[in-house]
Amino acid sequence: MRVLVIHGPNLNLLGERQPEIYGSLTLAEINELITTAARDIGAKVDCVQFNGEGEIIDAIHNARSNYDGIAINPGAYAHYSYAIADAIASVEIPVIEVHLSNIAGRETFRRVSVTAAACVGSVSGFGAMSYVLALRALAQTAEK
Ligand code: DQA
Repeated sequence: MRVLVIHGPNLNLLGERQPEIYGSLTLAEINELITTAARDIGAKVDCVQFNGEGEIIDAIHNARSNYDGIAINPGAYAHYSYAIADAIASVEIPVIEVHLSNIAGRETFRRVSVTAAACVGSVSGFGAMSYVLALRALAQTAEK
């Protein structure tokens, strides 16, 4: 199984960005955890990060011929990007949404995810472990 992990805007600053909310791991450290977890479940993973909405949409489009599933943390785009939601709905491979923080328990604007509605499911609130749980869920979804 080949999985593409897409990190959205501002996640390049993990480690220094509001560590009380997002934890102290850098994006490189999180990607290492993801890569180790992928190896354990026999998956191959590539991790990319984009701040721009269009780049994220291009990555979703391009993944459809190269990957069996996508784990995406759309960052704040989750709360309002119908363009990313449409891109997710346009590809047949399973897409799982990931959030480090528990968006259901934060500010009102973060409680809605328009992109999660287009995904097969979402994992929110477990820090870096959210990505690992999403990988496991993707592996099960791909087996069906
Ligand atoms: C986030 C939650 C979003 O609300 C926020 O804009 C982010 C990070 C998370 O992983 O918890 O950038 O997606």
